[in-house]
Amino acid sequence: MPALIVAAGSGQRLGAGGPKALVELAGRPLYAWSVDAFRQANNIDRIYVAVPPGRADLFTEPGIVTVEGGETRSHSVANGLEAIKADGDPAMVVVHDAARPLVPAALIDAAVIGLGSDTELHALIAAAPMTDTVKRLGGDGVVVETLDRSSLVAVQTPQVFRVEALERALESGDLAGATDDASLVEASGGSVGVIEASSGNIKVTVPGDLELATLLLQRNR
Ligand code: CTP
Ligand code: MG
Repeated sequence: MPALIVAAGSGQRLGAGGPKALVELAGRPLYAWSVDAFRQANNIDRIYVAVPPGRADLFTEPGIVTVEGGETRSHSVANGLEAIKADGDPAMVVVHDAARPLVPAALIDAAVIGLGSDTELHALIAAAPMTDTVKRLGGDGVVVETLDRSSLVAVQTPQVFRVEALERALESGDLAGATDDASLVEASGGSVGVIEASSGNIKVTVPGDLELATLLLQRNR
């Protein structure tokens, strides 16, 4: 099945002065680590990468198909899905953030197998149990309540979707407001399951995350 790695963001919070996906991490561009994991995964036959408009020539990893990304993450997913559908008619697709370079190939495989074997689900997404206590604040910045941590998870990628459900969700959803595509599937009435991932599958967002990702990659080698 195809995978779509979204790499079209500008990386404002990282502040590297160029696209985050191209920032160097342990000697390679950030997005290349995710491409590697998908190459190693068992059920992935094509890897699409949504790239910043006009920058496709800078994404030189062999064997990938580049697609022009969009204004928001979900617009990039929509563009990628359109390209994937133009090339074939897959039943499922895996979506992953280029910003998560430590994704284990085994997690991709487990998520794909998990969705394939649960016909009730429209999507299966990686998530880690919450370790911090989470509180909700009021408009004045004062704590309103402490949430029950046992029913909360921190959502990551990879996220595996039934193509039909993802397409429907993208057609009707608020693409500009969504931080992931699973939330669009939820909003369109779909059921989304979670597969437990480790907190080590970090997202590179701010400069300190790059240092942490470097250390974790060295440890994994
Ligand atoms: N992304 C994308 N297209 C966009 C925005 C984001 O493909 N228009 C991708 C990013 O490249 C990243 C993933 O979505 O791999 C998660 O987004 P985020 O971590 O927020 O990355 P950026 O949007 O690049 O960073 P920032 O929000 O700090 O600008
Ligand atoms: Mg962003």
